[in-house]
Order: sequence, then structure tokens, then C-alpha cells
Amino acid sequence: MLKLLVCVSGCGTNLQAIIDSIADKKITNAGVAYVISNNYGVKSLERAENAGIPACVLSPKDYPDRAAFNKAFLEKVKEINPDLVVLAGFLVRIPEEFVKEYSNRIVNIHPSLIPSFCGVGYYGLKVHEKVLERGVKITGATVHFVNEGMDEGPIIDQKAVEVLEGDTPEVLQRRVMEQAEWVILPKAIDDIANERIRVVDGKVRRNI
Ligand code: GRF
Repeated sequence: MLKLLVCVSGCGTNLQAIIDSIADKKITNAGVAYVISNNYGVKSLERAENAGIPACVLSPKDYPDRAAFNKAFLEKVKEINPDLVVLAGFLVRIPEEFVKEYSNRIVNIHPSLIPSFCGVGYYGLKVHEKVLERGVKITGATVHFVNEGMDEGPIIDQKAVEVLEGDTPEVLQRRVMEQAEWVILPKAIDDIANERIRVVDGKVRRNI
């Protein structure tokens, strides 16, 4: 049974997709043990509470500097001792030390087809604004393992989504979530929990 820690910042629709997929047995052999939010009063915390999942807020704003926050974050993760950490819309840069220690045990969902529209400055609604600005016709989402680079870790899965005439960033964001993020993130967790994938030479391979 894979013990999950889900890190969130906001609304938590991806967290909800994970909770629902576990309830519906679309994800097997995994359970959400804990939720960490970096923001107070967000909907994600309500979702965790409704599902009976313990949660806490760890905000960089509550610490004198980033090093102190990183230390507290690492201590909390060690206490939870998860098998897999899921960054589900987590907007805080996670400590490098933690990335090294949890190599291939942290996954992130990004709302574009990496390597397009990713890296510094590409987060949340901004990604969809840039997609519309550039006029691409296809976008999507990517779930990947986290390494020291920004949005550079081994790609687990991707799903394409159409950009439609008249889309606003908000409308496009919602479509990408519904058609891609809420599908590929739970699926990736299920694949990991059931040992269907492995990382070879920095790439994700499917076990046959
Ligand atoms: C999602 O679009 C995710 O890909 C991005 O932030 C958003 C979080 O949404 N990294 P939610 O909190 O899961 O609703």
C-alpha cells in the first residue's frame, strides 16, 4: 500500500481527483496519508477534512527565511514518511535536498505539454495565458517525476487538449484540468502504486 503525501496551494481539484479515484478504485494500492498546504484557508484543506485526511499548513511566510522553512518542511515530510509525494498544484519551490533524497518518489502535474510552456514563470493561469498569446492549437498536461531542474524530470504521462476559438485563460485552464490533469495524475499514481513503470536512464519505461 503506497502512502501518499499530497502538497497543495489552492483549490485542490487535483487532490479531489486523487481522493475520488481511490474511492472509485481507479487508483489501487495507495492511500492519501497527509496533505500539506502552503496557504491558509484554501479549499484544499476543506477537501482533506471532508475526506478525513490529516492536513497542516506550512507557509514560508511563517519562517524567518527560506532555509528555516525548508528545514521545517523536511522535518514534517520525515515525520509523515510517505512512499510518494504528489505535488498537486503546489506553488512552492521544494528544497533541493528533499528532491535528492526522494529521487523518483516525487511527482508533479504541470498544465502544459512539457517542454512547451514550462520552466520559470510558467505556473497556474500564466501557462494558459502564454498558450493563448502564442496561438498554439494543442496544449495539454504532463505528469512527471521531479528532479533538480524546473519541470525537467522524467515524464510519466501526457495528454493533449484542443485550444478552441474564443478561449479565455480560465476556460482553457478548466478544459485542461477536466480532460487531462484529473485523468493522468490519478493514472500515474495507480501505475506507480502497482509497479507498472520504472525510470531507466532518466526516462520512464512501462513494465511489460
Ligand atoms: C493545476 O492546473 C496544476 O496543473 C497547476 O496548478 C493547478 C492547481 O489546481 N500546477 P488545483 O489546486 O489542483 O485545483
